Amino acid sequence: MKTVITFGTFDMLHVGHIRILERAKRLGDRLLVGVSSDELNFRKKQKSAIYNEQDRMEIIRSIAFVDDVFLEESLELKGEYIKQFSADILVMGDDWEGRFDMFNDLCQVVYLPRTLGISTTETLEYIRVGA
Ligand code: CTP
Repeated sequence: MKTVITFGTFDMLHVGHIRILERAKRLGDRLLVGVSSDELNFRKKQKSAIYNEQDRMEIIRSIAFVDDVFLEESLELKGEYIKQFSADILVMGDDWEGRFDMFNDLCQVVYLPRTLGISTTETLEYIRVGA
């Protein structure tokens, strides 16, 4: 039984989110997703998410290939979450390439390529100012 863990804000769900979760699940048997808390998201991105943490967790939990979700309260706690959930594989998007290599002694660290041409930020910008 291999447990895969991944993290993210997942605001305004889009196909890039779905694809990374689908590929993450295929690396093991069980996929756990740490959804960034509203506070952590603000610290990371200097802006608020459109959907609050409870709604983002509910949406991610409803995805067929996600087995469970939890609230990620701090970037510094990643190692603790990996241990707490006995994760075998940590999946991150390749925008974080190399940044989590220190967890290689706790679990395998895999960076998956992001889906090109889509992000929540770009979509919001498009809605705000148009093409
Ligand atoms: N992701 C992806 N491909 C995209 C966008 C995101 O694979 N086009 C992945 C990220 O690498 C991360 C997860 O989805 O592992 C959650 O990313 P998140 O930051 O919530 O999504 P973004 O759309 O990048 O959000 P933002 O534009 O606000 O930074």
